[in-house]
Amino acid sequence: MAEIFVITREGERISLPLEPGKSVMETIRDAGIDEMLALCGGCCSCATCHVHVDAGFSSMLPSMSEDEDDLLDSSESRTEFSRLGCQIELREELDGMTVNIAPED
Ligand code: FES
Repeated sequence: MAEIFVITREGERISLPLEPGKSVMETIRDAGIDEMLALCGGCCSCATCHVHVDAGFSSMLPSMSEDEDDLLDSSESRTEFSRLGCQIELREELDGMTVNIAPED
């Protein structure tokens, strides 16, 4: 079964099933990982779903919208691999992707 891996702020690596069409944020939140606050519910307006994506997979993601880019700019932990988890829709090709939950701002 396809899966993604999530690394929590404490460094725990957790495997989660990859369900195509579901977002990274929904996958993490629905697994009960409470570090993923996702306060806006996926409306791209809070940035509490900030993740750092595996370098190898980050180029496979669609480019970010201006809104996502602006929100990430407000984070001190932004890197070149930063994305908002609610804006990454899973598909089979992302099998094996690892995302780190970004430090809390
Ligand atoms: S859940 Fe709020 S921006 Fe992603």
